[in-house]
Amino acid sequence: MSTNFLAIESSCDETSIAIFTDDLTIRANVVASQTELHARFHGVVPEVAARAHMQQLLPTMDEALRQANLKLADIGAVVVLNSPGLVGALLVGVSAAKMLALTLDVPLLSANHIEAHIYAARMAAGRDIFPCVGLVVSGGHTSLFHCKSALDFDLLGGTIDDAAGEAFDKVATILGLGFPGGPAVEREAASGDPKAHAFPRSFLKEDRLAFSFSGLKTAVLYAIHGVGKTKGPVPSPGKPRADQAASFQQAVVDVLVAKARQALRQTGLKRLAIGGGVSANRVLQAALETMAQREKVELFIPPMMLCTDNAAMAAIAVEKWHKQMWAPLDLDAVPNYLGKN
Ligand code: KG4
Ligand code: ZN
Repeated sequence: MSTNFLAIESSCDETSIAIFTDDLTIRANVVASQTELHARFHGVVPEVAARAHMQQLLPTMDEALRQANLKLADIGAVVVLNSPGLVGALLVGVSAAKMLALTLDVPLLSANHIEAHIYAARMAAGRDIFPCVGLVVSGGHTSLFHCKSALDFDLLGGTIDDAAGEAFDKVATILGLGFPGGPAVEREAASGDPKAHAFPRSFLKEDRLAFSFSGLKTAVLYAIHGVGKTKGPVPSPGKPRADQAASFQQAVVDVLVAKARQALRQTGLKRLAIGGGVSANRVLQAALETMAQREKVELFIPPMMLCTDNAAMAAIAVEKWHKQMWAPLDLDAVPNYLGKN
């Protein structure tokens, strides 16, 4: 008989509960988004996020159990994504997971949110994807990994300032588009010319596997308000704004594709898996597909629902469960990515 896992994600602005089995079948993956609560602040407000998790977590769990047609007594293990993220938000999920594991008398497992984003590609593939290069592009991270196995990730490099998703969100605010910025910029860019502005592409010519997006954000500001000026009226809808969105998006895509290719060449690996909210971007996906074909590399992209934050990606912990790597009941919420978890 298979074991049912109940997983909790509460690292940022999505409360998610998933139920999956040890053969990686997803029985429910419910996401309660807080987007509307944070929209007027143009970003996630940590305390607002933590309170909303506290309110939403149990109703979301109830809904996941209903969708999976299961009762709590059918759950054989509890998983929590305990790092990285906003500490107050993480604490809600970690506390709930501990209580649940204790009262159900089942094993508690922890998983790393960033590594889980890559595991989403493994779930979608339905077969092993390791060893591979992993590219995580989210609101908080832009990182390249050498993923030796599901439980052995080496960080190859990351951003020295903003994450790619953060840049999308900030540029969306600059352009007067909505929050979250990624999908809004992608929509606006669809009618724009990606060559209209020659925005900077940091570290493109260097061997270093590093990213920087804060200069790009400033370049977009200057393109709108004039060099040296960071303030002015928000651009109105029309061709100039679409061109700015498209040129910005192209700059991000060019850098992500070039650095992923560099990581593949440097490691000699022939598989690339991507994850995180920005990996839902269709222009990025198309550019990666072209690069992967040229490099004769297999590309693994999760479907939209598994790209953005969700608890089903916590199935990476099934790999720990096979090895009985339980989490202790004094498990902590760890805000920064510290590597192996
Ligand atoms: O992985 P995720 O859901 O949460 C974090 O772990 O951060 O990523 C959220 C980020 C946001 O910055 C959002 O603007 C971005 O992913 N995003 C996108 C797209 N959809 C979401 N960025 C570019 N294009 C998209 N279609
Ligand atoms: Zn994420």
